[in-house]
Amino acid sequence: MGTNQCGKREILGLLMKFSIVLGTRPEIIKMSPIIRECERLGLDYFILHSGQHYSYNLDRVFFEQLRLPEAKYNLEVGSGTHAEQTGKILMGVEKVLSEEKPDLVLVEGDTNTVLAGALAAVKIGVSVGHVEAGLRSYDRFMPEEINRVLADHCSDLLFAPTEKSRQTLLGEGIPDKKVFVTGNTVVDAVFQNLELSGSKMDILGNLGLSAGSYFLTTVHRQENVDNPQRFQGILKGLEMVQKEFSLPVIYPIHPRAQKQMSAFGYKIEGIRLVEPLDYLRFLQLERGAKLILTDSGGIQEEACILGVPCVTLRYNTERPETLDVGANVLAGTEPTEIVKRTRYMLNKSTNWENPFGDGRAGERIVQILRDRLG
Ligand code: UD1
Ligand code: UDP
Repeated sequence: MGTNQCGKREILGLLMKFSIVLGTRPEIIKMSPIIRECERLGLDYFILHSGQHYSYNLDRVFFEQLRLPEAKYNLEVGSGTHAEQTGKILMGVEKVLSEEKPDLVLVEGDTNTVLAGALAAVKIGVSVGHVEAGLRSYDRFMPEEINRVLADHCSDLLFAPTEKSRQTLLGEGIPDKKVFVTGNTVVDAVFQNLELSGSKMDILGNLGLSAGSYFLTTVHRQENVDNPQRFQGILKGLEMVQKEFSLPVIYPIHPRAQKQMSAFGYKIEGIRLVEPLDYLRFLQLERGAKLILTDSGGIQEEACILGVPCVTLRYNTERPETLDVGANVLAGTEPTEIVKRTRYMLNKSTNWENPFGDGRAGERIVQILRDRLG
């Protein structure tokens, strides 16, 4: 607990005040259930946006569509090398926290914003809560792995989505009393938005697709799209999937992947590129897909929750629960393996149970914050 800030607030008889630090698409989506709960309860909190994501379709569209309150601060750090981006966020967060003096900072996931938010806070004695704690790919070449390990070890309250992630944290020596199994807020986000999504828009119709008759893909991770051999292998694999099943492959392309595709001069065949989509349309597209091929963390979870088979275009996953229930399989980036794993998943039944909780993780996390800090 932040001794300086917290002690003073207790003397003054004030209630807890906290800051939600976020900066990228998945953080906005997965923090949205917590933000909604804070709004419902009228809690004293503010949103601090790092500005890591800034394009309309990676950032503002989610605030507008999910009807989230505006960030009180936006550091507008933008893109850069890891050190530049992380360093700018560290300095910006420290400045805001020093002025606002919250009791706690809440971060979610594994981006540079998460690492910098957690580190800036803990260094000046502000408590840190980490949502989606305890995930591990055990692959130190991924920037996300470094970020999540360090964020966990800076945190005072660790919100593990599953018992498996709790066990991982305990195995690393984190005391049991700091760890809470809450479920993953992605389930809340899917449940809260799915119905809205179905009734309001018709992305399948607009793209000329029918449910169960297309593949959905997303590829954006640094270790894949910045590596020409891997990225080309994936694109070739997707092209082969399209040919073998004679179904469209839809790829809402992240700007990082778009940039790398141009830099490598790839010509795309058999894959339909579209702009990154808003959350409601993207959920519809996920729900209607015959199968999803992705390297995204959040999309592995959403496919599992929605009962859509998933082929992960990576050699590891920090979401082993999806493999355990039979919703997902690792294919790596070799074209023939991608096709083989796609065939395999298409022949399996889809009646697995969602391992990520009941859709009330946001409520639980806020309740724990109030019990501990209130
Ligand atoms: C970041 C996260 C990644 C997460 C992803 C979610 C880190 C290390 N990586 O990756 O874990 O899966 O967000 O989508 O934090 N760009 C834009 N507009 C934007 C943001 C980025 O055009 O709003 C382009 C820029 O060319 C930029 C590149 O995308 O250089 C990469 O952006 P960056 O934030 O560094 O990483 P992401 O790949 O988005
Ligand atoms: N998403 C979206 N529109 C898209 C692609 C993804 O709304 O065009 C959502 C998706 O539903 C999920 C989140 O973005 O909730 C995943 O983010 P991303 O894949 O960028 O990051 P990761 O989860 O890999 O960190």
